[in-house]
Amino acid sequence: MERYWIRGGERLQGELQLQGAKNSALPILAAALLVRGVSEIRRCPRLSDTKRTMEILKHLGCHVSEEEGTVTVDASQPVRCEVPEELMRSMRSSIIFLGPLLARCGQARLSYPGGCELGPRPIDLHLSALRQMGAQIEETGGYLQCRAPGGLSGADIVLSFPSVGATENILLAAAAAQGVTRVTNAAREPEIVDLAQFLTRCGARVSGAGEGEITVEGVPELHGASHEVMGDRIAAATYLVASAVTGGRLKLSGVRPGSLAAMLPVMEKSGCSFQVRGEELRMEAPRRLSALGTVRTMPYPGFPTDAQAPFLAMALTASGTSVFVENIFESRYKHVSELLRMGGRVEVQGRVAVVEGVPRLCGAGVAATELRGGAALVLAALAAEGESSISGVQFIDRGYENLEGFLTQLGARIKRVPCDEKSQE
Ligand code: EPZ
Repeated sequence: MERYWIRGGERLQGELQLQGAKNSALPILAAALLVRGVSEIRRCPRLSDTKRTMEILKHLGCHVSEEEGTVTVDASQPVRCEVPEELMRSMRSSIIFLGPLLARCGQARLSYPGGCELGPRPIDLHLSALRQMGAQIEETGGYLQCRAPGGLSGADIVLSFPSVGATENILLAAAAAQGVTRVTNAAREPEIVDLAQFLTRCGARVSGAGEGEITVEGVPELHGASHEVMGDRIAAATYLVASAVTGGRLKLSGVRPGSLAAMLPVMEKSGCSFQVRGEELRMEAPRRLSALGTVRTMPYPGFPTDAQAPFLAMALTASGTSVFVENIFESRYKHVSELLRMGGRVEVQGRVAVVEGVPRLCGAGVAATELRGGAALVLAALAAEGESSISGVQFIDRGYENLEGFLTQLGARIKRVPCDEKSQE
């Protein structure tokens, strides 16, 4: 196991080329299973989650190769339609294979996906939608035994919650189903639009992605295509906060500023200023941030839940009181107890966290237990005085490509060391 050693207090400034979006690359890799040919997915971030997804594709019989961030998937001849438990449980998003497997193979056998630290991650919306499209799904012994003997049929589906994963599974099932599928109350995240663009390039007929109502007209076959994954808006927010909490300035390239629309006003309220030029964003931070006001996480285009932990870290040293309301996941404040060890002043009551800014944080030994909470610990350590040690780097590797390399590029003093090794500069 490895940990991060960080000595805080450096102003982070410079330029970064943003990684491709994890939450776009994962469903697009799964979508490649629908294609009777070769797909090329450019700017695929090198993460443990994308690596595991490629392992699942290989297990299913696809030929997968990766070079310099471009992944090539040849799904001409899939040979299996089941995903073993160890691969399914390795990450929550493995459920995204259910739709494409049913569409391509007419059957699927999957264990329940991996749990995570954010609270229960039900898949009822995924299953009810696929059943409406004609799938027969039995849930026995932690496994999903699924069949669609006559193929999947289009359906009118209303989601009770705009679930990102359920919307993606429906798109993937509907692309090659017989007939038309309409999804009402669909998720509007930019990653859904990116997935729809890939599917369209493969010959699918998708309209309305990014709005609340999506229509998919099934086609008999999808052909190979090449697609560049969009920039990762949560990684963008993380690097912007890293620079902001250290009073720095940052030039970020390869980001769609529109995908940050709910986050930039919060940073401006805390005193940061921005210049936008195409897919380039420049940020200047004040010496000391002001409180962020009240931040409520909501489905897109609201403030993203994945940015709650990084922004909570930003509030720790801001002058004044900031309030967070986590409306998406039940328990997404696990990082708070570790932030208290660094001198943060946070009180959590259910879905609400109240942060009273302090003049300074102190480096400490802390433990990451999930992806975005782990990123928050790194951000707090960069702002803190003295040295911090952050264990659980494997959680952070799930969503950030070469985090220590990019932060070092901006002037941070950060090292990745084996857990049992002392480190000093
Ligand atoms: C996606 O997860 C993202 N993951 C998450 O990012 C992100 O936090 C989330 O969307 C919300 O934006 C990927 O894209 C791989 P949901 P997903 O289905 O699809 C409930 C990260 O850090 N729900 O929109 O699982 C669910 O319990 C990760 O990058 C049901 O009740 O999110 C949750 O409370 C973390 N039944 C809410 O909906 C269902 O069938 C949002 O879940 C499905 C979801």
